[in-house]
Amino acid sequence: MTPAAQDVDHVTVALGDRSYEIVIGAGVLADDAFWRGLPSARHALIVTNDTVGPIYAAQLRQRLESTYADVVVVSLPDGESFKDWSTLNRIFDALLGHGCDRKTVLFALGGGVVGDMTGFAAACYMRGVPFVQVPTTLLSQVDSSVGGKTAINHPLGKNMIGAFYQPARVLCDLDTLASLPDRELSAGLAEVIKYGPIADAGLMDWLEEHMEGLRRRETPLLRQVIRRSCEIKAQVVGADEREGGLRAILNFGHTFGHAIEAGLGFGVWLHGEAVAAGMVMAAELSERLGLSPVGLRQRLSDLIARAGLPVRGPRLGAAEYLRHMRVDKKAEGGDIRFVLIEGLGHAVLRSAPDALVAECIDAHCA
Ligand code: NAD
Ligand code: GLY
Repeated sequence: MTPAAQDVDHVTVALGDRSYEIVIGAGVLADDAFWRGLPSARHALIVTNDTVGPIYAAQLRQRLESTYADVVVVSLPDGESFKDWSTLNRIFDALLGHGCDRKTVLFALGGGVVGDMTGFAAACYMRGVPFVQVPTTLLSQVDSSVGGKTAINHPLGKNMIGAFYQPARVLCDLDTLASLPDRELSAGLAEVIKYGPIADAGLMDWLEEHMEGLRRRETPLLRQVIRRSCEIKAQVVGADEREGGLRAILNFGHTFGHAIEAGLGFGVWLHGEAVAAGMVMAAELSERLGLSPVGLRQRLSDLIARAGLPVRGPRLGAAEYLRHMRVDKKAEGGDIRFVLIEGLGHAVLRSAPDALVAECIDAHCA
């Protein structure tokens, strides 16, 4: 069954002549209507991974064959630990090996890892070819597929090598979430929860009311929360595409979270899990600095726990956290800058004394 127009949401990322649509609905991968009007070319390259490809690549290929004469699929090994140079090179090997020219359109079919790598490959190949995001995890549908941040990891830091490069379209099929493991669904909920404290107090109330339904994957709830998340992200990206200031608020919890990911080794904790524990630490820091009212950290922590996410970080030691946090992209001259909450729904960027940060880490490590 294909979706009726009223069953699909559209959100626009307004960036002048680089503006694009985010399409959100069930059955998007099954309906040619959503795949018309894409950049024209002879070649299309679907980038996916060894988990997602066997489930969805054939369906995507079917959608693309009416537009592109040559549709190639390249499947990468699955995992954050493969978000690196040598795996990225496999995309370039496939592009060059198939004689793909500079009009070739790349399609990122998968979660944030595939999306970030495909976007970076598109930014680099022949100095830039178009790409389309087809996100298949909740995390990628509410966050990573939107806004044009593309990257790979470096052993010394997360997402350190990359480019700002916007997709031509984002196509979110809610049906793909049916095959997502529960742990991954929860990881996506971390990036949803983040939008409440930084931008939308009402979303926090809504999530408290509907968390169980979301975890049961009720499609109307998923659609509603993906649309609201994309609206917030689109608004922030439209105002500050290259993170001159405002966009940094989207990294609430990420400074601590990236330290968890890098400290444990990429892939041990999921990105969303690390962000979840990181948000609790950042909320604690907000309270201790007197920015946010006492009680917000507990409220956030309760919601995070109900999403099936960790509220305590791994005990790496505060010094190890701080060492990784100094490599964060928001750091300036070794000064770590945190996204902190100044009242529910409003975030600010601040530095804080190391000793206080260490206390917040120690208070929330298992
Ligand atoms: P992921 O891409 O690793 O996907 C999670 C797991 O789910 C993988 O094993 C994947 O193969 C599997 N999977 C994906 N879709 C599936 C489906 N429909 N059914 C069954 N299995 C499926 O992880 P993620 O959480 O989607 O993304 C995390 C990455 O996104 C991190 O690298 C993070 O840095 C990045 N990120 C980027 C941005 C951005 O703005 N660019 C924002 C947030 C996160
Ligand atoms: N996920 C952070 C950003 O897109 O800016």
